[in-house]
Amino acid sequence: MTFSEFLIDLIDGRESVHIALSGGSTPKVVFDVLAEHFGSKIVWSKLHLYWGDERCVPPDDAESNYKMTVDHLLSKVAIPKKNIHRIKGENDPQKEAKRYARILGKNLPVSAGLPQFDLVILGMGDDGHTASIFPNALALWDKKSYCVVAEHPDSGQKRITITGQLINNAKAVAFLVTGANKSGKVREIILKEGNFKKYPATRVDPISGNLYWFLDPAAADGVKGVRS
Ligand code: 6PG
Repeated sequence: MTFSEFLIDLIDGRESVHIALSGGSTPKVVFDVLAEHFGSKIVWSKLHLYWGDERCVPPDDAESNYKMTVDHLLSKVAIPKKNIHRIKGENDPQKEAKRYARILGKNLPVSAGLPQFDLVILGMGDDGHTASIFPNALALWDKKSYCVVAEHPDSGQKRITITGQLINNAKAVAFLVTGANKSGKVREIILKEGNFKKYPATRVDPISGNLYWFLDPAAADGVKGVRS
């Protein structure tokens, strides 16, 4: 099953669907395919879009996950503006983390006492980070806040990210991972081998049990034939 087919199935039969999007470059191709080949198959007005993380930059900055999503998806499909809940990267990071946490608390259904996304889409960096929780700041995963301020370990760029409790409270979590440079960590995480405990992506373990990996052949090279 492709991710697009998975998403169409997930949306089908639901009145409204709350989805946290991932950022970076991997979603670009997926969003292009969704918009160009499945645009008429999805009732876009059902979707409420959020971000699992955002860079602390203005919305028109080349680094912005929101801008990437506008360029590859939102500019091509009819999602009502009121359904787009972007993280305001232009704001003071600490204040925005609090503001966005309030938005999530207000907009999302509650399950197990926490806001619950229908779907959290995640990428994975080649260091095993996910959302914007990096291996050198794994403690952020367990924070009790819904959103925290993170920092990219190389560039120092500030980010806003949701925390592990929200990710693992989602009805479903889907990793979108591509590239040979990630195949080793994908294998370590799925097979629980090597240094898997060091990677934030390993912590993704939704209570619902609904964890899906959508991999291109290069990223899947280390797990070919493995049934998880
Ligand atoms: C971000 C992300 C991040 C991303 C991974 C993979 O803001 O960068 O949300 O977690 O998903 O870094 O990024 P690529 O898809 O660019 O490899």
